[in-house]
Amino acid sequence: MKAELVFIGHIETPYKTKDECPRNISKDGPLCTIVLKEKYEEGLYRLEPGQKILILYWFENVNRKLYRQYSGKTGRYAGLFALRTPNRPNPIAAATLKIEKIEGCRIFVKGLDCISGTPLLDIKPDINDIR
Ligand SMILES: C[S@@+](CC[C@H](N)C(=O)[O-])C[C@H]1O[C@@H](n2cnc3c(N)ncnc32)[C@H](O)[C@@H]1O
Repeated sequence: MKAELVFIGHIETPYKTKDECPRNISKDGPLCTIVLKEKYEEGLYRLEPGQKILILYWFENVNRKLYRQYSGKTGRYAGLFALRTPNRPNPIAAATLKIEKIEGCRIFVKGLDCISGTPLLDIKPDINDIR
């Protein structure tokens, strides 16, 4: 079986390189924009500022075969599934953040951790914040 993904938009952040990115999200970080392709705008109906969303995005140019990795956070090695590392067989990144505001196809959140231009895979309400 094969999976087929479509990029539904992209993410704009202040970061141009991996090295500039913070190690992970922070709810007090700089304002970032999730830019949805226009054809999906209707899919934002009833999503509200203040609501928490799960954002799924796609990392490229990573090592997909590094099964045990060093964690800078803990200072020890661990299996990739025990880590939030971008180096994984399917480089899907995930973040749960609060919506600051929505303007058309643009959703503003604080504190994403990716390079500007990172492709967007999906948005879902946080499981504890379905309205
Ligand atoms: C540790 S990952 C965490 C990602 C996500 N918050 C998660 O937990 O799944 C964040 C790191 O991925 C790297 N990164 C950011 N944007 C990237 C991109 N577009 N492609 C590959 N790596 C990226 C940066 O080094 C950044 O610090």
